Amino acid sequence: MPEQSTSTNPVLNSPNKLKLGVFGVNVSGGCSMTSVPSTIKAEWDESVNIAQAADRAGIEAMIPVARWRGMGGEINFNHRNFDPFTWAAGLAAVTERIGIFSTFHIPTVHPVRAAKEVATIDHISGGRFCLNVVAGWNEKEIAMFGTPQLEHDERYDVAEDWITLCKELWTREGEFDYDGPYFKSPGAYSEPKPVQRPGPVLMSAGNSSRGQHFAAKHADLNFVVAQTIESAGEIAAEVKRIAREDYHRDIQVFGQAYIVCRETETEARAFHHHYVNEKGDWEGVRNLLDVLIPNSESALGDGWEAMAANLIAGYGALPLIGTADQVVEGMQAFSDAGIDGITLSWVDYASGLAHFEKELLPRMIEAGLRER
Ligand SMILES: Cc1cc2nc3c(=O)[nH]c(=O)nc-3n(C[C@H](O)[C@H](O)[C@H](O)COP(=O)(O)O)c2cc1C
Repeated sequence: MPEQSTSTNPVLNSPNKLKLGVFGVNVSGGCSMTSVPSTIKAEWDESVNIAQAADRAGIEAMIPVARWRGMGGEINFNHRNFDPFTWAAGLAAVTERIGIFSTFHIPTVHPVRAAKEVATIDHISGGRFCLNVVAGWNEKEIAMFGTPQLEHDERYDVAEDWITLCKELWTREGEFDYDGPYFKSPGAYSEPKPVQRPGPVLMSAGNSSRGQHFAAKHADLNFVVAQTIESAGEIAAEVKRIAREDYHRDIQVFGQAYIVCRETETEARAFHHHYVNEKGDWEGVRNLLDVLIPNSESALGDGWEAMAANLIAGYGALPLIGTADQVVEGMQAFSDAGIDGITLSWVDYASGLAHFEKELLPRMIEAGLRER
């Protein structure tokens, strides 16, 4: 039976019924493809302030986006993007409790280097580090490295070999020879080991059948992309079943949500209409979908317009729009559907987090979704 993490990582071990992660703070625009002025700029002070506010509010995780170029169009969405590893190392040093994620695109880094960077940030954070493994889908980004992108399922074969070598480097004492189908490492060696044993919390967000099996076999957390909370719950149940039956492991499954919360539902819907329909970057989203649809099996939705609007509004997450009571009802629905946690994003993260602490968190505690 594969070894399960026994770490005290804040994400895996949180007592909260619905765990929370702030997503997308390291990339310009954050998770909203819109020209309204209050979106993420990708400045260091901004990242620190948001991470510290999330830490104070008891949120379990900061999850960056690994990006190498923007989407073109009016705002060139995400074109400024902090490297998620050095970003995570920096945030680990200025936060206290929150889990800090980073993300590798497998084709961009050798596992011997990756294993050491992970171990280093795990030490900086005192065992709060979590690794998101992305097999690669954005072929324009992968092309920047001078090699063509492999076919979809083979990308996960490479990822299997990659993470297997990382796991061996995190657990095996002394030197060993690694001879995998894609990676060879004679005299492989890595010290210090990560603080977390047997290694850091691992996340994978593939939604294809191959991606789900990769997550079920190797990851502690899988993130689902779905069109409704109910279907997210069905996918979560299936991933948990695959992990249990095929790999004899338990896995947590997270969903994704974006929040537009105002005093009245009418006001919330009006702002949503404004930043998506009036100020959305429709040229940028066309560029994004031109790459996403042929390369990611997570992208399939109910028609181009709906998919585009959803990407503009929250980068493919599910909407939590309305009053504070309505938003928390939506969070309750995620939990009732069997989802262990959700990512959160806002157009304006700083005011969103302040509002979260004042208005949403007390309601979540009242509903039994959070302990504090
Ligand atoms: C919460 C979440 C975070 C993700 N982060 C990244 C990222 O940082 N960089 C990236 O290129 N893809 C990211 N993805 C995309 C997926 O990891 C995955 O590669 C993509 O959905 C294609 O996989 P599939 O065809 O197996 O579904 C993310 C997806 C989700 C749901």
